[in-house]
Amino acid sequence: MGSILIVDDMEDMCYSLSNIVKKEGCSVFTAASGAECLEIIRSNIIDLIFLDIGLPDSDGIKLIPIIKNITPDIDIVMITGVNEAKSVVEALKEGAIDYIVKPFELIEFKSILSRVMQSILMRKKVHLCWQHTDTGKMICSSEAMKPVQKAIHMAAEVSASVLVTGETGTGKELVAQAIHEQGLGNNKRAVFVKVDCGALSENLVESELFGYAKGSFTDASHDKKGLVEMANGGTLFLDEIGNLPISLQPKLLRLIEDSTFRKIGGLKDIKVQIRIIAATNCDIEKEIRNGRFREDLYYRLNVLPIVLPPLRDRKDDILLLANYFLHRFKKEMRKSIKGFTPGACCAMLAHKWQGNVRELRNLIEREVIFCKGEWLTMHCLQSDHKTIESDANAILPLKEMEKKYIQEILNKSSNNKSKAARLLGISRTTLREKL
Ligand SMILES: Nc1ncnc2c1ncn2[C@@H]1O[C@H](COP(=O)(O)OP(=O)(O)OP(=O)(O)O)[C@@H](O)[C@H]1O
Ligand SMILES: [Mg+2]
Repeated sequence: MGSILIVDDMEDMCYSLSNIVKKEGCSVFTAASGAECLEIIRSNIIDLIFLDIGLPDSDGIKLIPIIKNITPDIDIVMITGVNEAKSVVEALKEGAIDYIVKPFELIEFKSILSRVMQSILMRKKVHLCWQHTDTGKMICSSEAMKPVQKAIHMAAEVSASVLVTGETGTGKELVAQAIHEQGLGNNKRAVFVKVDCGALSENLVESELFGYAKGSFTDASHDKKGLVEMANGGTLFLDEIGNLPISLQPKLLRLIEDSTFRKIGGLKDIKVQIRIIAATNCDIEKEIRNGRFREDLYYRLNVLPIVLPPLRDRKDDILLLANYFLHRFKKEMRKSIKGFTPGACCAMLAHKWQGNVRELRNLIEREVIFCKGEWLTMHCLQSDHKTIESDANAILPLKEMEKKYIQEILNKSSNNKSKAARLLGISRTTLREKL
């Protein structure tokens, strides 16, 4: 449900508030000082902090910017004394979202907790981005990605196997990580183990996946744990599952059906509790017809199918992703780039993106590296696209640019909205909204 940190030097207060938080189904941390508070937020994922203003080692208000600097998305509710009205105003200015005045009834605390938690959960649900690994976020807002978002939420709540399919670079691994992270609940320590079934030889895949027992072959001088065992309690992500050698497929099938496996040369079954997410960009049904993939395994893996649409079919995401990558890379490379030229936006919207999001990401990274001015032209794409005669110096805000582009496509489609929507890769409703 969420994790909450209570920062107060009064032990009794921490204790009784913790009990309420736990009863509400949230996980709870407590800290008695500013230093302890910072230590906890550095090493845990916290959604909400109840922060006392008067702490033994620091002033709660001074802590707010420091906390926000470590995790900008965290919500802070101040715990204040009756005579601290001035401090409350200051705290709200610093970014606290609410406050509760001591002494308060537990019911008051409960109501503020559920109010704030509800808004955090809503935000998590409707937010365009899913916080996932420390390497990035999943960005999308297109209609085409709505079923994917729904499927991720659904998959996170159950432990059935998931099969993620889609062209290369569409974000299959990101989806797997998102399911893992959203499904963690209170168990933040569960591991995500990735196996690339295409990268290893047949023998290696078996020993990497299932491990081996001491003495099972000449060099086996000790027991070796396989990745399946290491993923116990967490997620096993089988990437490029279409390349899993047919000889190993029964062993995987057994793992899914009975949650048990044997090490190479092992004499006893080992039981594990893992969730399996597989991904592939090959046509598994064709592999089945060609006798390279077992049909029974396919059905076992495909309990929850998630199909990622190619980037060219979710045009609404292109500029959103482009901006996200631009901000990320310009920050990393400390460049002060303002944005994309209109021509660059047109070119990106019209490009086919065979390599999908990965291609977009890589192109933007390259452009940012070589960019000498303030605006990205996406020069490498412009040669294959010249629909709008654009002056590279005529910088337009994104919204204006989008308007211009839509108008252009409408003109080309003789004002036929269905045709224009099709050309733009968006639904008629979205087009109507935009108009
Ligand atoms: N919606 C998204 N938001 C942000 N980044 C994304 C998104 N989708 C993909 N990416 C990024 O694009 C790159 C490719 O994604 P990922 O590795 O998940 O693709 P894939 O489908 O597994 O590709 P492949 O089939 O080649 O293994 C990664 O850098 C990933 O972080
Ligand atoms: Mg991948």
